[in-house]
Amino acid sequence: MKERPGTPVALVPRPVDRADPAQTLARDGIASLDELKAQTMRCRECPIGEFATQSVVGEGDVHAKLMLVGEQPGDQEDLQGHPFIGPAGKLLARALEAAGIAREHVFVSNAVKHFKFELRGKRRIHKSPTHREAAACLHWLEDEIALVQPAALVALGATAARSLLGRAVPVTAERGKWLPRADGREVLVTLHPSALLRVDSERRGAAFEAFVADLRQAKRLVRGG
Ligand code: URA
Repeated sequence: MKERPGTPVALVPRPVDRADPAQTLARDGIASLDELKAQTMRCRECPIGEFATQSVVGEGDVHAKLMLVGEQPGDQEDLQGHPFIGPAGKLLARALEAAGIAREHVFVSNAVKHFKFELRGKRRIHKSPTHREAAACLHWLEDEIALVQPAALVALGATAARSLLGRAVPVTAERGKWLPRADGREVLVTLHPSALLRVDSERRGAAFEAFVADLRQAKRLVRGG
């Protein structure tokens, strides 16, 4: 069978040292977020990048004490090249504001840098990355952590929690808790904002308040918080 050009034959994630993200950064030879963008644009270490419009790297305060990590860019993020600007991003922005956290004082990124989707007619429907795809992208996330050097992180959902902590985290049971990473940074685990978009209308208000309560725990780390 003829392989598609650019399609990786085997997905072997690059080694990552969660205990020392600077090691990963040195190995990748990246000095800035612009370089991270350029390198992730070319990344074909998993199949997702082949089909996405572009890579989406983190944005916000590059000296932020708090870094929020989602799953992967969605449709709007893929088209426009910025993280968390679609429906989930708007909900996250409202929740951050309600928690007293200024979005411009945090750094917001994703565990996976390209949008994975399946086509249904003309619509691009979000598909979760596999564990191996997320593992292939992990070195880029660790590069971002090494560049921004946040004091702590928020894992928005299971993919982010797994990438940041190196193990499966039952998010519903662990939400609202700070869990330690191998590098000593604490990770606050909570839901992904997309999960709230799926909650039925009667329970949506309470679900939003619980999400805000989780985020509020990180407020002390943020300027003005
Ligand atoms: N969902 C994410 O996890 N990240 C985004 O940037 C947008 C939606």
